Amino acid sequence: MRNNNKSLIFLIIIVVLIIQIFSTYLTNTKKFSIQAFLRNLVWAYAFYQIYYTKNILWLLFPILFNFLYNYIIRYKLNIIIEPYLTTEYLYNDFFEYVIENNKNLNYYTEGSYEKLLNINTMDLSDKNINKIMNWGEKQYNNSFNNLSPVDLDNKTINTDYIAHQGQKDKYEWIVKNLNINKNSRVLELGFGKLDLMKYIRANTGAKIVGCNLCIEHVIDAINNGFEAHQVDHKHLKNYINKLGKFDIIITNGTLEYLKIGGGDKEEIYDDFMKNINILLNKGGKWYTTTIHYNNNFCLNTFDLNKYNYYNLALGNEGCYPVFPNELTKFAKKNNLKVVKQENRWLDYYIYSIIWFCGCIKNRKTNIFKHLNAYIAAPNYLESYLCYTPFKNLYYYQPWLWQFIQNKNGCVPTYHQWIIFEKINHL
Ligand SMILES: C[S@@+](CC[C@H](N)C(=O)[O-])C[C@H]1O[C@@H](n2cnc3c(N)ncnc32)[C@H](O)[C@@H]1O
Repeated sequence: MRNNNKSLIFLIIIVVLIIQIFSTYLTNTKKFSIQAFLRNLVWAYAFYQIYYTKNILWLLFPILFNFLYNYIIRYKLNIIIEPYLTTEYLYNDFFEYVIENNKNLNYYTEGSYEKLLNINTMDLSDKNINKIMNWGEKQYNNSFNNLSPVDLDNKTINTDYIAHQGQKDKYEWIVKNLNINKNSRVLELGFGKLDLMKYIRANTGAKIVGCNLCIEHVIDAINNGFEAHQVDHKHLKNYINKLGKFDIIITNGTLEYLKIGGGDKEEIYDDFMKNINILLNKGGKWYTTTIHYNNNFCLNTFDLNKYNYYNLALGNEGCYPVFPNELTKFAKKNNLKVVKQENRWLDYYIYSIIWFCGCIKNRKTNIFKHLNAYIAAPNYLESYLCYTPFKNLYYYQPWLWQFIQNKNGCVPTYHQWIIFEKINHL
């Protein structure tokens, strides 16, 4: 009897292992996850119990297991056995599947919407904030009822056009404010779908190099004729000699992934800036757009915020610097001077609304691909919940939640555009 049990357990382990290896092979990331393997074993056990007890509540067991794993191992004990694996699956797989349905969703960060929507996104008066928040909520809910989105003056808009042109307006701002020209050597760290790199190359003739954690992005860049390297921000130091010197460095919506919650201390920004200083020529500029977390994420009041917070944090990894100066306070020490600092929170909110309206419009979901990636990836469910819009759940949409001002006037995050200038070598 005991031997039979042992053989059964062994058989289950082998079957789960084979299924996961096959699923992993079918993803773009192709990296085996130990956390996912443990969770999949729990799934197998839950199915076994359902078969014998006919109690479907066992379905909750693997989900609870993953939650406890994240809470105890990652959060409480600070043990991160697979750093950035969730992020790799998020960008290599989840977003790639989403983009398949709508190419206009391939912008991973905010644009500039002032000109397009005829609104001052840096006016943080209650009146302006309320106007934009009410507009956003309406557009999100209306999209589920197939109502065309409108702008703040109630005129119908084409969200694909806004998504596209908003980025172009921001790129124009970048080129102008960083004074990029044909003699500039530019480095983009954590580039996305190459739009900014292509824009700079086409409109200024500058030489541009890209680095990214995700291999899909790097391959794409090389295929488009760019010099590109697979570099984790954390290991930038090891690539300094290979990369050379730059007049401009850009980190556009990617420093959110530098610090991993709990494990890393704020000195990680200090080290990163040291590398930026070494990579920059004297007088060179570093432009960063980064979400900052505000007022302890407004988590002090008990409501379902914790659902949003959990999925946002676990579905993305990374950790934001604290608003307003956790980043900038290390500038002076690293001979970098802040020459511009703008709170662009409302631009990020508008971008997110437009992005979700695009998702809702093209609600074709390839369940097989998502299910397959779920089997392979550690926190795919959390990533999925973080970026998937559901009807009537505007306030329980984890990505959006961070930009929505709550009833007490608190906003979980702000977003800053900062330009630094290197004033001297270290
Ligand atoms: C929000 S997207 C922004 C992409 C792009 N800059 C843009 O504006 O569309 C974040 C990017 O950072 C990359 N990334 C995430 N973690 C990283 C890390 N540790 N090192 C380097 N790149 C990373 C992701 O692969 C992704 O392309």
